[in-house]
Amino acid sequence: MNNFWQRFMRQWRQWSDRPQFWETVPFVIMGLLALTLMVKGCQGICYHSTAEYRIHRLGYPIDQARALAAVLSDVQADSLIARSEHDTIAYPLLSERYFIAENFDRYLAYHKVATTGTALNNIVAIVNVGGDLDWDSSAAPCDISKGKLMLVNGRHYLDEQYKPDSLMAFQRTCCYEDQRALSAVVQEFVIMQQECKKQTDAQLMVNSAYRSYQQQIGTYKRNEKGYAARPGSSEHQTGLAIDVTSLQHPMRWSFDTSKEGVWMRENCHKYGFILRYPKKQSQIFGFAYEPWHLRYVGKDVAQRIHDEDITFDEYYAYYIENPQAKTLKR
Ligand code: DAL
Ligand code: ZN
Repeated sequence: MNNFWQRFMRQWRQWSDRPQFWETVPFVIMGLLALTLMVKGCQGICYHSTAEYRIHRLGYPIDQARALAAVLSDVQADSLIARSEHDTIAYPLLSERYFIAENFDRYLAYHKVATTGTALNNIVAIVNVGGDLDWDSSAAPCDISKGKLMLVNGRHYLDEQYKPDSLMAFQRTCCYEDQRALSAVVQEFVIMQQECKKQTDAQLMVNSAYRSYQQQIGTYKRNEKGYAARPGSSEHQTGLAIDVTSLQHPMRWSFDTSKEGVWMRENCHKYGFILRYPKKQSQIFGFAYEPWHLRYVGKDVAQRIHDEDITFDEYYAYYIENPQAKTLKR
C-alpha cells in the first residue's frame, strides 16, 4: 500500500511539474461541472416520469402522491392519472381498514354512483364483496376446496350435485324432526345448547340444518320472499348452516328478542358459529336479517369475525381472496 502511495505521489509530481498540466485544469473542472449538470438533468427527467410526480401534478400533496404511488400498480397509477383530476377519496382510501389495492379503481368508480351512502368503509366493504359488479356476470362457482370456510351466496354458487362428505344426525333433544349437519356443527351445537341452558334456562333447538339442492327448491318456493336463498346459493347445502330457535320461543321473531336469542348472538362465536345474516349489513350479503341462521366457520375465524364486527363475505374477501392476504398481520 505504502509502495503504491509513493509511486502515485512521484507520478503526480511529474505531471504537475509540466506547464501543460495547469492549463488543462479549467477544462477538467468544466467537464466535471457539465457531467454533474447532465446527471442532474437526467434525474429530473426521470423523476418527472415517475408515478409519484405525475400524481402530484394532479394536485395531490407530495406525501399523498408518494403514498399512492407506493401502493398502486403501474396500471392503477396510470388510470388515476388519466382521470386528470384530484379525486378527494383516493388518498383517504389507503387508510381504510379493509382496503385492497387491487380494488382501487372500483372504489373510485363505485363512490361516484353509490346509492348506499358514501361512507368510505361502506364503499370498501361493498366493492370487496363484489356488490359493485353486475350480478349475473360476476357469479362464479363456490370454491369448495376452502372447506368450512367456503363462501356460498348469490355470487358463489354450489352445483346441483354438491353434497357434504359425511353428515351426522342431531340427537332428538336438539331438533323436532330428523336433522343432519357436518359432525363439527353437531358437536359444537350440543355444547352451546348445554351452556345456553345453564345460563338462560332455555333450550336451543335446530329447526333446519342440511338441505340438499332439491330440498332448497321446495324451501325457496314456499318461503316468504327474501328469507330463502335460490337453490345453489344456500349455505344449508354445505352442511355448515343451522337455523336455531328455542323450545321456549319456537317462533323466529320472538326468539330474536328472547334472552336465549340474545345469548346465542353474543356467545355463538365461542363454539365456532357466526350469525351469518346480521342486522346492519344486509346490503353486503344480499339477504334480510336472520336472527336464527348460524354458520359454522370454526372458533378462530368466528372469534375474528365477532371481534372485527364484519360479515363472512367481508372476511372472505379480505382474509382469503385478497391477493395480499398472506402478508397481512393477524
Ligand atoms: N335463509 C337462508 C338465506 C337460506 O335459505 O340459505
Ligand atoms: Zn338458514
